[in-house]
Amino acid sequence: MQKTALVTGGNSGIGYATAKLLKAKGYDVTICGRNNERVEQAAAELGVKGIVADMGSTSDVTKLAGYFEGKSLSALVNNAAIARFAPLAYCTSADFDEFMNTNVRGPLDLIKGVLPALQKAGGSITNVSSAVVNNGLANAALYAATKGALEAFTKSLAIEFAPIGVRINAVAPGAIDTPIITKLGLDEQTQAAVKAHMETTIPLARFGRADEVAEVIVAQLESSYTTGAIWAVDGGVNVT
Ligand SMILES: NC(=O)c1ccc[n+]([C@@H]2O[C@H](COP(=O)([O-])OP(=O)(O)OC[C@H]3O[C@@H](n4cnc5c(N)ncnc54)[C@H](OP(=O)(O)O)[C@@H]3O)[C@@H](O)[C@H]2O)c1
Repeated sequence: MQKTALVTGGNSGIGYATAKLLKAKGYDVTICGRNNERVEQAAAELGVKGIVADMGSTSDVTKLAGYFEGKSLSALVNNAAIARFAPLAYCTSADFDEFMNTNVRGPLDLIKGVLPALQKAGGSITNVSSAVVNNGLANAALYAATKGALEAFTKSLAIEFAPIGVRINAVAPGAIDTPIITKLGLDEQTQAAVKAHMETTIPLARFGRADEVAEVIVAQLESSYTTGAIWAVDGGVNVT
């Protein structure tokens, strides 16, 4: 039977590269994203199904999970997330809610909603975390808190889901060259300076590529004896 996959935030960066690799490996792939045009364009380029869903909206997540009712789902990649950086003094409680709703509640609700489909397929979940959980980064407290929560629930759910044959893991990318960087609102010169500085802190001395993370995500999804694991894909920053 053909394997099936759902990749959230599959219209850009790491999610796009993961959807592309899964499709190349023969999966029937569905992607989701917030913006109709971007989702439609990516779905057409990749030859996959596209669904518009905001992971920060409970009703959208419920609707998204509804597409898999009565079906089987081999792979769920919880990749979509918001990343904005600001000193804590400038973070509002609305920011806190938006981060937690999109990066933590959305993935948890989606897992809950598609669990019967995952169980049917003996499926596997990969959550996309971040190296920031272990390394710390100024101005990233809200973002880091959401990724820490993601890693924590990954470990607990691994134990909870093991008896029903569903595996759940996470990857923790370091600095990866994706559109997320251009979305930070920095001018081109500052962007280049930040990137050049960051490269001096990475043992492999460069940013990673989205396809390099996608390879690890797909390997993790297919690793039949791996659950509750957090795999670093960060050019070595986790050991510095
Ligand atoms: N790039 C890095 O250096 C890095 C490092 C560590 C971890 N990560 C993690 O990797 C994952 C992918 O990031 P990326 O670098 O590939 O960034 P990206 O190119 O900006 O992709 C993010 C994707 O998530 C989608 N998304 C954002 N908020 C959403 C929401 N509320 N509902 C549905 N979709 C939403 C975006 O869709 P839109 O087109 O609507 O924005 C986009 O498709 C994220 O979880 C990020 O935290 C990235």
